[in-house]
Amino acid sequence: MYTGEFLPKSWVDLKIEKGHRVLYLLNVPVLRFSYIFGASRLKRSLIILFTYALFCIPGFLLHHTMTSLMINHPINFMASSVIRTLSQSQRMQLPMLRPTRMHALSIKSDLEIMRQQMVVVDDDESYAMKGGEGPHSYAKNSIIQKGLIDGSKRLIQEAISQSFDPKEHIHGNDESSTPICIADLGCSTGPNTFFAMQTITEAIQLQFQSHGLASQIPDIQVLFNDQVSNDFNTLFKNLPQQRIYYATAVPGSFCGRLFPKQTLHLVHSSAALCWLSKLPNEITDSDSSACNKGRIHYTDAPKEVADAYATQYRKDMGNFLHARAQELVGNGLMLLQFPVSNVVLDSDVDPAKVFELIGTCLVDMAKVGVISEEKVDSFNVPLIYPSVKAVKEILRGCDECFSIEWMEILEFKNMVSLPTVQIFVSWFRAALQGMIEKHFGAEIVDELFERFAEKVKEFPDIMDKDKLKLDVLFEKEQAKAIGCVIQCEHHQIERNCLLLNLGFDCC
Ligand SMILES: C[S@@+](CC[C@H](N)C(=O)[O-])C[C@H]1O[C@@H](n2cnc3c(N)ncnc32)[C@H](O)[C@@H]1O
Repeated sequence: MYTGEFLPKSWVDLKIEKGHRVLYLLNVPVLRFSYIFGASRLKRSLIILFTYALFCIPGFLLHHTMTSLMINHPINFMASSVIRTLSQSQRMQLPMLRPTRMHALSIKSDLEIMRQQMVVVDDDESYAMKGGEGPHSYAKNSIIQKGLIDGSKRLIQEAISQSFDPKEHIHGNDESSTPICIADLGCSTGPNTFFAMQTITEAIQLQFQSHGLASQIPDIQVLFNDQVSNDFNTLFKNLPQQRIYYATAVPGSFCGRLFPKQTLHLVHSSAALCWLSKLPNEITDSDSSACNKGRIHYTDAPKEVADAYATQYRKDMGNFLHARAQELVGNGLMLLQFPVSNVVLDSDVDPAKVFELIGTCLVDMAKVGVISEEKVDSFNVPLIYPSVKAVKEILRGCDECFSIEWMEILEFKNMVSLPTVQIFVSWFRAALQGMIEKHFGAEIVDELFERFAEKVKEFPDIMDKDKLKLDVLFEKEQAKAIGCVIQCEHHQIERNCLLLNLGFDCC
């Protein structure tokens, strides 16, 4: 909303315009009069000044008073009506209705400044998990992701005890110390995010206690982030009553800026960085060699398709790191965990194989006419299980902003007790249902996942813990002294350029 001085400025313009008219109207007869009486040039000038002082200045003051009455006291409607009638009788336009050109230019430049200051609204496609608490909801079908959070609990605790310095958060005896801000990026609808936040806040509390600062723990603020289409109502409905933090929702894509500069002390993200912000355009372009016809993922697709996914992933990760580098305070911490494909042997099963199975179910449904072939061709799942090597390369490229303190591959099979077919299928259904409904319509969802369950039974290796090479990469990254980057422009440019090397166009 524009909050500049729209009315006062316009009224100033009116006063100037009106003043000139009055002066002109008065001066014409006065000048005629003085000519008739043969007054000298000096006398004529003095007469003009005198008339100006006598009529115009009081006119101005009267006008100004009436104007401010109208602006400041809407109740004084009569004053405004008088002015309006007067203005109309003088065939003047009301300034509120027609700003002058100069004024229009000033509004334009104010808007331009505001636009530059605005948080950039991203054009991400949104793939929120199934909301609510029904039988197919994410809240009821995320036990596997919970296993990942439990599996990295020890690492999170260790990371905080080694790298979170409570003294940095104590400012003498200042009662108004700033809160510790923690962001959980890609939190979904719960409850897993609550377990993660509990682990983190308790570890912070312990850290203060072990430094003898138990009585000086600042307030803790948790910022729950997810896509705008996420079901934040379910999340906040189930917020734990026993918690030691204040909770806030921050909707939007984590691939862009979400928080003010240098405000986050700790960032956590679990099982979310594997989602692409958007599908690469070329995979649905029939003229492109990366067109992914008849499949819904890069698994078993031509190399060009996998390359297109990988390029988008590098771009997203680059944007993610770039945004966090600005939002984290110096020495801030990022605790990230996301699935990686760890296929080494021929006998290993690539976790992305699951999408090949779901893809064949859709193709089968197209063959019997339940859905159209074109619909299948234009549908792709925006999820990637990158290789550890690819992730390391990306992270190595941003050592200007972050130092990677610790990277550990957690074996999926040690964290999760692999479920029944039904739980396995529901796991994917909770994640994919939203985008399938959006693309094909809600009526196909039951049939699709029934077919998928049959395929999983036909291909049991997909659930075999020893063969499925889905692992979790846990990274603890510590922001370097970002403060100097923010203060010093050319560092900022260096950093942008550095990220540009990763292949994205933020500069
Ligand atoms: C599998 S869920 C993980 C939820 C939770 N962290 C957990 O461990 O249970 C992935 C979440 O990441 C969110 N997500 C994916 N891409 C995102 C993005 N670019 N910005 C914000 N959230 C995103 C999805 O909406 C989804 O809620």
